[in-house]
Amino acid sequence: MEATNNYVPIRVSTLRGELKIPFNAYVRIANKHILYCRMGDSFAGDRLAKLKKKKLKKMFILDDQETQYRDYLSQSIDMAYDKNSGSSIESRADVIQGSQQASAEEVMENPEDQAAYKIAKDGTAKYVDFIMSEDAALKSVINIENTDQSLAHHGVTVATLALGMAQKLNLDKSHPLNLLTLGALLHDFELTHLDLDMSKPRSQFTEEELAAYKNHPKDGVKRVGTLNHFDQAVTDIIFNHEEFINGSGFPRGLKEKDLDLFSLITSTANAYDRLVAFECIPKTEALKRFMVESMGLHKLEHMQALKAVLKDNDIL
Ligand SMILES: [Fe+2]
Ligand SMILES: [Fe+2]
Repeated sequence: MEATNNYVPIRVSTLRGELKIPFNAYVRIANKHILYCRMGDSFAGDRLAKLKKKKLKKMFILDDQETQYRDYLSQSIDMAYDKNSGSSIESRADVIQGSQQASAEEVMENPEDQAAYKIAKDGTAKYVDFIMSEDAALKSVINIENTDQSLAHHGVTVATLALGMAQKLNLDKSHPLNLLTLGALLHDFELTHLDLDMSKPRSQFTEEELAAYKNHPKDGVKRVGTLNHFDQAVTDIIFNHEEFINGSGFPRGLKEKDLDLFSLITSTANAYDRLVAFECIPKTEALKRFMVESMGLHKLEHMQALKAVLKDNDIL
């Protein structure tokens, strides 16, 4: 029977929230598909935590249930963006964070797919509005722990902190904040194509691993360089997010005067969330460490903006 069924992959990050699933979801173990979540189950609470623990990124559905899956996705996202849906902000943030993570994963895996890029880009415009206009939105998204050390989840966190910083820095509408968001979502794009254990401190990388790591911004840009659908602002963030204002960053050792505003903001948010997401340092301690160790590496007003985002949103 296995041979006659056609399974298609779906992203675990799209399975969030209280809505019951109108399809069966399978996991693949040793080339066999095993029913894991039944039609009528939902992904609130425990079940999602278990999936994350397994670091499972994809599940499978039968291809004749793809329409149900697509309908579930759009209904779930529409409900999440609807202030009056009756769902809690935490549950809505869960779905919205998942959808941002899923579109980042999609572009990171298939950068040449112009349609996937457009979906991600269109999605960021709505996301900017959600984070900027709803009181507990930023806090609810940042409080979703990156338990599986996902680079795409880290991208969503960095994008969200970057938006909070933009608000503190009073950036007006003349700044395309959707591109700041998209660039921050995709900043570590190249790391998803490398086989590095991100939970290892950088001091424990082998020489080869360290060399690959130091090149990830440059190699990321190389990979998307010939793709016209990537916006320049996004490519700049991918290239420059590890640079520091005093020229001690990588890959080019650029200084503040050579760096664009969005790259500077992303670099600051990234340096902080790297400590939380990959070095597993509790948020309050991570901020303390960041404020001391990063002095002189980021613009002081950007560091202060990040600190204010975390404090004013009761995240620490
Ligand atoms: Fe990076
Ligand atoms: Fe990063």
